[in-house]
Amino acid sequence: MTNEFKRYTVTAALPYANGPVHIGHLAGCYLPADIYVRYLRATGKDVLFICGSDEHGVPITIKAKKEGKTPQEVVDHYHRLMGDAFKNFGIQFDYYGRTSSKTHHETAQDFFKTLYDKGVFKEEITQQYFDEKANQFLADRYITGTCPKCGNENAYGDQCEKCGSSLSPMDLINPRSALSGAAPVLKETKNWFLPMGDIQQSPEFKEYIKRFEHWKSNIKGQCGSWLNEGLQPRAMTRDLDWGVPVPLKGADGKVLYVWFDAPIGYISATKEYFNGSSEWEKYWKADDTALIHFIGKDNIVFHAIIFPMMLMQHGGYVLPANVPANEFLNLEGEKISTSRNWAVWLHEYLEDFPGRQDELRYVLTSIAPETKDSDFSWKDYQARVNNELVAILGNFVNRVMVLTWKFFDGKVPTDTTAREASPTTLEKTDALFSTFAIQQKEIEQKLSTFSFREALFDAIDLARNGNKYLQETEPWKLIKSDEASVRFILASSLEYCRLLASVLNPFLPATSASIFTQLNSKGEKLIQGHSLNEAFLLFKPIEDSEIEKQLAKLQASKVMNSTSTTTSNIEEAKPEITFEDFAKNDIRVGTILEAERVPKTDKLLKLKIDTGLDQLTVVSGIAEYHQPEDIIGKQVCILINLAPRKMKGIESQGMILMAKEPSGKLVFVSPSVITANGSGVA
Ligand code: 2FM
Ligand code: ZN
Repeated sequence: MTNEFKRYTVTAALPYANGPVHIGHLAGCYLPADIYVRYLRATGKDVLFICGSDEHGVPITIKAKKEGKTPQEVVDHYHRLMGDAFKNFGIQFDYYGRTSSKTHHETAQDFFKTLYDKGVFKEEITQQYFDEKANQFLADRYITGTCPKCGNENAYGDQCEKCGSSLSPMDLINPRSALSGAAPVLKETKNWFLPMGDIQQSPEFKEYIKRFEHWKSNIKGQCGSWLNEGLQPRAMTRDLDWGVPVPLKGADGKVLYVWFDAPIGYISATKEYFNGSSEWEKYWKADDTALIHFIGKDNIVFHAIIFPMMLMQHGGYVLPANVPANEFLNLEGEKISTSRNWAVWLHEYLEDFPGRQDELRYVLTSIAPETKDSDFSWKDYQARVNNELVAILGNFVNRVMVLTWKFFDGKVPTDTTAREASPTTLEKTDALFSTFAIQQKEIEQKLSTFSFREALFDAIDLARNGNKYLQETEPWKLIKSDEASVRFILASSLEYCRLLASVLNPFLPATSASIFTQLNSKGEKLIQGHSLNEAFLLFKPIEDSEIEKQLAKLQASKVMNSTSTTTSNIEEAKPEITFEDFAKNDIRVGTILEAERVPKTDKLLKLKIDTGLDQLTVVSGIAEYHQPEDIIGKQVCILINLAPRKMKGIESQGMILMAKEPSGKLVFVSPSVITANGSGVA
């Protein structure tokens, strides 16, 4: 598809301005978009790369309320933070806009008005919950109540976070307003709906969706099932006070639906970029413009169906040529979650790993969730940086630079066209460059079809080949016997570094620039006698301690969560006792020798424990949390002077000490190192 278009309008999803950006955002959307744009630019294409902050929507108002701020204050803060994070990671937007801007409000209102004047919308009166105390309609998120599916008393009007069911406010039992706590009443309200089911039947839409055939399969899958079920009309306006006001008489207190105004943000950002001139139009309206939306999978329907329908109904706009959507990135095997602080935040990464943006770009591209969800782990991050960036790429460039300084005082030792070298050297060098040329084509092909991971693997292979070339030609040995060949090898290697730096630019822009700096080149071919700059290492290894620190940080989030979300389940404090009371307990370290389930029970295990004094049988209610085979050999603390009790016909002669988490989970209280059985615990 790269050849038929004259210009490219590339967009990356406008992130909500209610929290910082994390690695999932980067891997799923901004990094692939940036790689693609850099690739297009390198091939001389006319590209416009647009993004910005999505500053409307209910979650922003909720955040503001929680923090005692205005929504504008919240979005101002995150707009800056997100913009800086993108810049720091080398994401080269031509323009980073925001949807609270005047241009955006006007553009979105004009767009809505055009559709309204064309009679596109269906006006509908529906019943919505209204808070009489706060005197306003309630967004779904502002209504809480009991989940009809699981009984959770704090489910939201759009979703129960306990059982994961999607809900509508009418489903909730005993609904309450999150604003005032009052029981809301149903009140009629008028809104404007996009008749998606009708548009789905239009020839233009049917023609448009033929494109899905050539797009990534996740689009075909998700959109296919929406289309098969038949699309429902969707309200494009909401009763809310934060957003773009609906530009109609009698629509006071209503704003545009956030998913109506957000994608128009791409258009308004383009207008702002062109500063009021009409230049922007060709990036949206000319037939030879390719409109490409980079997004995460939760945005698919909005970009592949709803926004194209809006553009189509408006008229005059091109429809997306592709919507490369990615799946999700997990972190250490768990879903990234802002509310649980289970994330690697870009601004924190930069504090902990200053100057190491390319390392993260590299790892995130290597594991990009292009076809299925993928996982980021700190150990894998360390391994990829150390084994690939340091050991392959960094090592190759450094060897070439250091050898040239050592043997030829940092000057390009010959002109490679002179070809003064032994036949074996010439042969090996020719092979190196012809493989390079083939692989470079493949990389371009992969980039043009959004296979960024594969393209990166090929690029690192080029560095691998460079290392192999040095290993095979051994210039450090050859220098004694055949200086002409060494001149040729190093001049060729420098040229290879120059070519490699260009190939790497889309993926690792800072590294590419560092290679050019060392070569003292702005990209031009190196000629004999050209002076290099000093050699320096492109990457340094990531130490174990740095990884441990990151893992400890995540562990801390976990502990915070399990304590903060469930404090209400923590048992109350017991009355005071004396030391003598406590000293009556005879607690010892023991080892579990045998463990088996007590028949016909779910909770009980029968254990045999070596207490150092003798062997005791203990019946313990831990079977829900521990498998017998997992705990044999485990050291535990056991109360040995508890009066024997019969349980299910078995005499239990002691009690194992367990910690009970707020969730109810039972965890062994064990010595932190192997300790002699019979050791007293006090
Ligand atoms: O999912 C999100 O973060 C949305 N704010 C994306 C909006 S993309 C576009 F439509 F602006
Ligand atoms: Zn539920």
